[in-house]
Amino acid sequence: MKTELLTISGKNGTFTDRELEELKKAGEVLKAGGLVAFPTETVYGLGGDALNPESSRRIYAAKGRPSDNPLIVHIYRFEDLEKVAENITENTKKLADAFWPGPLTMILPKRAEIPSETTGGLNTVAVRMPSDPVAAKLIEYAGGFVAAPSANLSGKPSPTLAKYVIQDMDGRIDVIIDGGENEIGLESTIVDMTVDPPQVLRPGYITNEMIGEVLGLTIETDRAILAPDSGIAPKAPGMKYRHYAPKGALTVVEGDPEDVVEYINRASRESRENGERVGIIATSENRARYEADVILTAGSASDQDAIAHHLYSILREFDDENVTRIYSESFAKGHLSQAIMNRLLKAAGHSVVYAGKEKL
Ligand code: TXA
Ligand code: MG
Repeated sequence: MKTELLTISGKNGTFTDRELEELKKAGEVLKAGGLVAFPTETVYGLGGDALNPESSRRIYAAKGRPSDNPLIVHIYRFEDLEKVAENITENTKKLADAFWPGPLTMILPKRAEIPSETTGGLNTVAVRMPSDPVAAKLIEYAGGFVAAPSANLSGKPSPTLAKYVIQDMDGRIDVIIDGGENEIGLESTIVDMTVDPPQVLRPGYITNEMIGEVLGLTIETDRAILAPDSGIAPKAPGMKYRHYAPKGALTVVEGDPEDVVEYINRASRESRENGERVGIIATSENRARYEADVILTAGSASDQDAIAHHLYSILREFDDENVTRIYSESFAKGHLSQAIMNRLLKAAGHSVVYAGKEKL
């Protein structure tokens, strides 16, 4: 299949006539059952018509994804929520009011209009209304309901730049829309609205505290996410897979900052002596203190937005650089620490070491 590449910025919400024409064409492709990758404020999505079971089958095939892993249905206006979901409570309305359009996905009982192919056989549906103007326009032109997982091959880091979508999807889908770099860089927060109180199934940019504040409730995260070795199955089926994996083996190093720098440098030296090509994920504060083949800066330790924004492109860059061994500082402090560490630890296959003295 020949994949068509379109470049559409629309960043400030205004489009040229050419861009609108191209978005309309891409919308037609979706309506006809084709697949279109597009930017959102979180990561790039791989879109298909959410109401067409054949489109959902194609999405699974293009990604190489197990078909029991449900897709998120993307809408562009709130009134369309009741067409795909039932039981839209006051709490759901409050969260939509506070965070839509934006990086929040809500799980609700599904309506029959949504084929079970889209929800991986579940009787619930995940719905999100993205804020990216290109995404919103495309969904509108596609008829209002676009199923879209992240636009990576299954098991690879989610793409935050069109070049990574092209790497994974060229020749496998009809259209790729290049809309530049995604604003946030991590997938949306998923919150299950079918339980009381609602529960976070995947941490993201919208934190438990932000949700809790709007609802006047304390919001917990699915325990299976926080304690991955507990043997409990995560409620979001996708969270059970080893995701976001770079090709090189990744270890996260925790401990006092001085001990961490020392540990990583020692491990880097030893790995290089053993013929490995070593990469390091560093905070900007410590960057100059490391020695390795490729050192990439996620951002300042105090700037969690920057770390979230850079994490996936860093993992991809190590692949491009053929790095075989990666050491990362830990980013466990700050408002996005749950979201960042969830992705980083999955990328590491939960390989964590503690630098310095034994933890008491
Ligand atoms: O930011 C995002 O959410 C991006 C962009 C493209 O919108 N999309 C995304 O989709 O991350 P995906 O397919 O990569 O991840 C969807 C996650 C999976 O872990 C899946 O298991 C979970 O959502 N999910 C979908 N429907 C669900 C449902 N009905 N119940 C529980 N989990 C669900
Ligand atoms: Mg994904």
